[in-house]
Amino acid sequence: MATKTGEGFSSSFGAIMAAAGSAVGLGNIWRFPYICGKYGGGAFLLVYICFVFFIGMVLMMSEFVIGRRSGEDPVKAYPKLQPKRKGWRYVGIMGLITCFLILAIYLVISGWTLNYFWESLTGTLASISNDGFGKHFSEFASSAGRPVLFVILFLVFTAFVIIGGVEKGIERVSKLLMPILVVLLLILCVRSLTLDGASEGLAYLFHPDFSKLTGEGILAALGQALFSLSVGMGVMIVYGSYLPVDDNIMKSSIWITICDFAIAVLSGIAIFPAVFACGQDPTGGPGLVYQVLPVVFNSLGTVGRIFSVVFFLLLSLAALTSAISLLEALTQWLSSEKIGRTISAIVMSAAVVVLAVIASFSFGDGIFSGFKIANMQIFDLLDKLTGTILPPICALLTIIFFGWFMNKDDIYDELSNHKTLKIGYFKVFYYFLARFVAPLALIIVLVAGLFGK
Ligand code: PHE
Repeated sequence: MATKTGEGFSSSFGAIMAAAGSAVGLGNIWRFPYICGKYGGGAFLLVYICFVFFIGMVLMMSEFVIGRRSGEDPVKAYPKLQPKRKGWRYVGIMGLITCFLILAIYLVISGWTLNYFWESLTGTLASISNDGFGKHFSEFASSAGRPVLFVILFLVFTAFVIIGGVEKGIERVSKLLMPILVVLLLILCVRSLTLDGASEGLAYLFHPDFSKLTGEGILAALGQALFSLSVGMGVMIVYGSYLPVDDNIMKSSIWITICDFAIAVLSGIAIFPAVFACGQDPTGGPGLVYQVLPVVFNSLGTVGRIFSVVFFLLLSLAALTSAISLLEALTQWLSSEKIGRTISAIVMSAAVVVLAVIASFSFGDGIFSGFKIANMQIFDLLDKLTGTILPPICALLTIIFFGWFMNKDDIYDELSNHKTLKIGYFKVFYYFLARFVAPLALIIVLVAGLFGK
């Protein structure tokens, strides 16, 4: 337990579950399958795998090292490890701002998901006709009352866990929810794969089509790799500061990355074969989960209703463990300013709910939908900023700090648990990946994605 407050995860297993809980979220189940299909299936997957293992995982290890070595929140961690250059704390600040923005939009989507879970349970969804789901979703998401109610409900669950503490709240809930999530997902995969015509969905997901892999697709792959692993905004620095002293950072990071990647691919396998088997269009974004999938569930009769409940429960649980990590990052920072954990969590929740409500009102035909910044509704602006722009920028700065400004011996000492572990591959990791490959790749993709067309 490295932090000053003495809070921390009790075991490596608990830490892996909590970090995997952060990584596995709406990004895996909802966003990954859709962008994978859109940008060329297998072709996208190849690029994505490279980004996940050569950039995302390297960043995760780096953030864990920064967190555990400093035992601080992201804002204080950088200057503590490099006292001569206090300016690095702005990277921590930028990361926390990114967490705040992600949490706002995350809450809106989680609120929708919770509502759909409720509507599956009560039979409301089953009573809608197949061509009515589009209207149902847009009317619901653009309305003022119900989405906000579910945002608040979801936030209350999240805050409740945070107030419970790192070990008794976050770790305990993650250890319980992650295995449930895997079981639910496997059930859905088996059902989806055994439907007639499932192979078309698999082909959509995996068949490589390099003509669809555009520059925009490559930036999307990078943004998704970072977003999905929850790296680039300091969340893993926070969890790193809670890692047990004897945790093997390299090993844990590899497990978390594999788990995150596997769940993303399994989600695609759970979704697309069913979508194709029921003759639906694999459209993406909110449309896929809230308009296409309900049709799929309805076409499967009573069993479909059960699967609908299972799916929206799965999505809500995955979203919950991710939202927890975002709110924890904000709470840890505020509580390190000598404000108690409970008050910090409540203050941060109150602040973020304001932005979440604004984002919700700006979605679709909502009451703020006419208000635009840079020609975008607030919801879309937040989505773009947090999906493709801010995480790669923060990630680049983090990896530059790690590779070029942090003391190499400190890094080695931390990764080898004070020289008690043999880490022969340290040189490859540090000299090759962290100092050169990851920063260069981040620069190239960022510049090409932001300025090229
Ligand atoms: N990794 C989460 C997902 O895939 C989102 C997230 C991003 C959570 C950043 C925490 C921090 O949905």
